[in-house]
Amino acid sequence: MKKNMSIAIDGPAGAGKSTIAKLFAKEAGYIYVDTGAMYRAIALFVIRSEADYEDEEKVSEIIKDIEVTIDYKDGVQVVYLNGEDVNAFIRTPEVSRVTSKIATYTATREKLLSLQRNLSVEKKVIMDGRDIGTNVLPDAFLKIYLTASSDARAERRYKELIEKGEECSFDEIKKDIEERDRQDMNRTIAPLKQADDAILVDSSDMGIDEVVKTLMDIYNSKV
Ligand code: DC
Repeated sequence: MKKNMSIAIDGPAGAGKSTIAKLFAKEAGYIYVDTGAMYRAIALFVIRSEADYEDEEKVSEIIKDIEVTIDYKDGVQVVYLNGEDVNAFIRTPEVSRVTSKIATYTATREKLLSLQRNLSVEKKVIMDGRDIGTNVLPDAFLKIYLTASSDARAERRYKELIEKGEECSFDEIKKDIEERDRQDMNRTIAPLKQADDAILVDSSDMGIDEVVKTLMDIYNSKV
């Protein structure tokens, strides 16, 4: 059997998982899989349907027959919702909020679990999310729990928005991040937590290059 080379990278919102995983994937020849984007596509469907996203029963019913798939265009992951490329619509604050809620529902998680597991069978993947090391890929060859203080995460997000010329409040961003942490860490199914065999990387005082180098060093010490 082929050696399992999958890498799981979990952690709270804004810890830099996707930025780091993308750079690592390029350097180490991996395919980057963003599982949050798949949850976001389901949230977008719920928003568009105008159903009450807090109503678990209703949401479970309406998402039963939807299809979420991913593909790659020029090396970038594209998420399809019933065949439509929805990448441009899934990064709004509203989608973030609704995603965090609907990701607590069994029906949502069951819908995506086998898709995510199958991807790791077909390809050498670095997959980021909240429950990859604990639930989706428990046999991953390397597990990283990437975190940072809520202040550091809010500061990064604040700077990003200011650079884009968007008006925003640091306190609001921090509150939003802490609310998503609370929701992601306290749900009953597959909550965000560090897997027993995951390596903790706290990036609060680290730059992007330093985190990628840390990850590369850990990886190289294992291959
Ligand atoms: O990583 P992200 O910010 O795109 O994730 C959006 C939401 O999706 C996040 O609040 C938690 C949820 N999520 C999850 O529950 N499990 C995953 N594997 C990935 C994301």
